[in-house]
Amino acid sequence: MSSQAPLLYERVARLVETQISMGALRANDRIPSVRSMSRTAKVSVSTVVQAYVHLENIGLIEARPQSGFYVRAPSAQSLPQPRPKFTRSKRPVSVATEVLDTCREALTRKDVVPLNGAFTSPTLYPNQRLNNLMREVLRDHPMNAGECLLPPGLEELRRQIAKRMALGGAPVDPSHVVITGGTMDAITLSLQVLCRPGDTVLVESPTYFGLLQAIEHLSLRVVEVPNVPGHGIDVEGIRSIARTAKIAAAVLMPNFNNPTGSLTSDEAKREIVEVLSTLDVPIIEDDIYGDLHYGSSRPTSLRAFDEAGLVISCGSVSKTIALGYRIGWAVSPQFHAEIARAKFFSSVACPTLQQLVLARYYASGGYDRYLRKVRSALAANSQQFIEAIARYFPNGTRAARAAGGVVLWIELPQNVDGTELFRTALASRIGIAPGIVFSAKADYRNFIRVSCGLPWTTTLERALEKLGKLVTEMAKH
Ligand SMILES: Cc1ncc(COP(=O)(O)O)c(C=O)c1O
Repeated sequence: MSSQAPLLYERVARLVETQISMGALRANDRIPSVRSMSRTAKVSVSTVVQAYVHLENIGLIEARPQSGFYVRAPSAQSLPQPRPKFTRSKRPVSVATEVLDTCREALTRKDVVPLNGAFTSPTLYPNQRLNNLMREVLRDHPMNAGECLLPPGLEELRRQIAKRMALGGAPVDPSHVVITGGTMDAITLSLQVLCRPGDTVLVESPTYFGLLQAIEHLSLRVVEVPNVPGHGIDVEGIRSIARTAKIAAAVLMPNFNNPTGSLTSDEAKREIVEVLSTLDVPIIEDDIYGDLHYGSSRPTSLRAFDEAGLVISCGSVSKTIALGYRIGWAVSPQFHAEIARAKFFSSVACPTLQQLVLARYYASGGYDRYLRKVRSALAANSQQFIEAIARYFPNGTRAARAAGGVVLWIELPQNVDGTELFRTALASRIGIAPGIVFSAKADYRNFIRVSCGLPWTTTLERALEKLGKLVTEMAKH
């Protein structure tokens, strides 16, 4: 009997937890009384009391005198934002390479809860529309296997992209658009055009690890400027670096930095473009997450403040509708011809079918309607994640409030090693990204990044609960 009781109370607790996590029970809702739950779940009153005490202990519900039990308002508000790091560094260090290889392998595993990737769940994609359009394209282009769309790429797709990019606050000439194999291809080509080995590139700290790897691969050096969670790129940092270092180019993510999810204000964007333009430093803008804003309007591109024509805006369909298509773009009034040339000699062209399908997709309308749905799903997911982190992670944890995108940046208690957590979590089949891969200096040892692009499920909640337990254990040592 005594060995059965915990299982019964856990079952009751899970029932309530699931209703909360699915949104059936919301903050301040009254949960069923002990007696009515005892009748519904067919367990004793004392089992229900045990379950409710457990839920109270983990902060999910609260007892109100003479009134019953209520869903507690999330304590997410009390979770502070992670702190920025004001460090300087020169080159990516190799310690992260081995960790990054493990990260990449983990992304290919099917038996892992994928909190490690940075993508919108493919279940949200307009799959049916894209597949129908693909059939249509195959019908209209029976000889497509022999069609090659040389750089700058399909004219109609470039026109559609130019049209959409005007939403970033500045019109785009379609002849300035070059189709690339995703955002990373667009950034790498731009770096190849702008820099020579040994040159220094200005990046944010933290920043996307793929960018740091590309920079290392091109034998470039980096200098880092802080990205402040909740605020974005530190303009003062840019000013002071610009005074002291000779910079060949900057690669910046003002719209929802990966991993912090921060949005840089228009005022700061204007200043950044002004400071760097004065020194004739081109800016490669990684705007891959620009369409995935949680707020009401699409954020401005750095191009809106670019009078000198020094901004190259890069983006792709990877985070919005089709990760597998490997199609992106680089847009630049000044460097488009050189980027197209570099594309041709490095990989000739981009896939034909995908370009044709995307041109039809954008032209046929419905993308904005689709985006509205995805953005509200992502914003809700991100909130659910923060609430779960507030619930399950120990004191001393901090979580960034992303303003858009698909990831959350979490600072763990000082003595918790994010890389050790990454390995331990992987052994428990939970994928996360360790903080050290997000800076050239392998900084952010007690940080992790988790994806919030997947629809919220109890599996995700259990994974976060497990992570929270691992962190709590590690924090004790
Ligand atoms: C900030 C950022 N830039 C670029 C990429 C790579 O984009 P793509 O798949 O379009 O090459 C990613 C993917 O995670 C990213 O997060």
